[in-house]
Amino acid sequence: MKSKIQTKSINTATMKTKNQFLFIMLIGFLLVSVDSYAQDEWVVPDKYEKMTNPTDPSEDLDIGKDLYKKHCQSCHGKEGYGDGTKADDVEGDLGDFSSAEFQSQSDGALFYKSYIGRNDMPNYEKKIPDEEDVWLIVNYIRTLAE
Ligand code: HEC
Repeated sequence: MKSKIQTKSINTATMKTKNQFLFIMLIGFLLVSVDSYAQDEWVVPDKYEKMTNPTDPSEDLDIGKDLYKKHCQSCHGKEGYGDGTKADDVEGDLGDFSSAEFQSQSDGALFYKSYIGRNDMPNYEKKIPDEEDVWLIVNYIRTLAE
């Protein structure tokens, strides 16, 4: 008799531990999800967000177009839909340059993302040494709005 009661209380104890374990797992899972959501958001530093475009967006669009074709099209696609030939090989949201949501970003934000990059979005500080060229690309990307 005595031993039966003991077994029962051990079982209850095991159940409690199991529930605690499941609870901790659940919390852990939630934390990881929140974390990866936060990582998705690409925060643009204030310095860039407030930058003013030093170029005249109506000039040298052909240069911007050529640079875009050379450096960006392979991933972002001709129209900026994110459907370039290399798009399937990279991770991350390429965005849709023709969308209102994308175009609602400031010139400075587009400059920052295009120039500095992150993860599979390359850094262009060495490949496009003249910052003005990056602005010309930003101006060209503006013309992809639909
Ligand atoms: C090798 C493929 C690749 C090339 C080449 C590339 N990109 Fe990207 N780009 C990416 C990826 C991947 C992301 C998403 C990055 C992320 O969110 O982590 C991205 C994101 C971006 C974004 C942000 C999109 C948004 O929705 O806000 C901009 C702007 C951008 N790229 C501009 C450019 C420009 C300009 C060039 C050329 C100078 C270029 N990219 C070349 C892969 C590429």
